[in-house]
Amino acid sequence: MESLAITRETIEQSTIDYYRTACGTRPDLRVVRMDSRVLIVKDFFRSDPLFRRLVGPILIRREVGALRKLAGVDGIPQLVGKIDRYALAMEHIPGRGLNNVQPGELHPEFYVELRRIIDEMHARGVAHCDLRSRGNVMLGDDGRPYIVDFAACVFLGRGINPLIRWVFNQFVLADQNAVLLVKQRMSPELLTDEDKTALSQQMPFERPAKFIGENVRRLTRRLLTRQNR
Ligand SMILES: Nc1ncnc2c1ncn2[C@@H]1O[C@H](COP(=O)(O)OP(=O)(O)OP(=O)(O)O)[C@@H](O)[C@H]1O
Ligand SMILES: [Mg+2]
Repeated sequence: MESLAITRETIEQSTIDYYRTACGTRPDLRVVRMDSRVLIVKDFFRSDPLFRRLVGPILIRREVGALRKLAGVDGIPQLVGKIDRYALAMEHIPGRGLNNVQPGELHPEFYVELRRIIDEMHARGVAHCDLRSRGNVMLGDDGRPYIVDFAACVFLGRGINPLIRWVFNQFVLADQNAVLLVKQRMSPELLTDEDKTALSQQMPFERPAKFIGENVRRLTRRLLTRQNR
């Protein structure tokens, strides 16, 4: 589905809730009811002007690209469409981010399913890269896992350039490792010996990725927003 014929005015009138209002580098996250469907609209229009203009369209294009490649994967919200350069609409998942879930609430099947979603995602050439952020994995009201927020994802692309494939595989390992980190935090009693061994090994890109991630975030905030947040 390409551009959606939804105007900003319609979105405004159909908003039934806000998960977050835009501020600085953050987008508006609205819950919107269109006919009988409930959608999430992610929108950088009211973020800081410079950030909106320079970065917003890149993040929206990236997330739309990922959701398009992942259409039909169970556990990933379906793309409804791109609204304009600054906003996209996707299926609303009833549930909570794991940042709002208590240890002990997740059952063993949750981790098996989460790993299945991640494997399907990788098979389609998308690595998420931000699964350590606790809100990006959700517990659906149906008890199943869901993955959101593809703004930081990496695509494998075409061709079999061995270097690109190697780099992509490092991100794949980081995504897989994130499942174990969730398990360690939420259900440590479920960790197998194999899980524990995997957790004791440092991820190849762990230190540099964390360093780059933190500093890029700090820099973009400083450069592209008027107040330092
Ligand atoms: N399709 C969806 N259905 C239901 N809830 C969602 C959906 N997408 C996002 N959310 C909720 O909104 C929160 C923020 O969304 P998202 O991570 O995409 O935005 P973000 O701007 O990257 O925020 P953050 O910086 O906090 O990660 C998620 O943690 C999740 O709880
Ligand atoms: Mg997020």
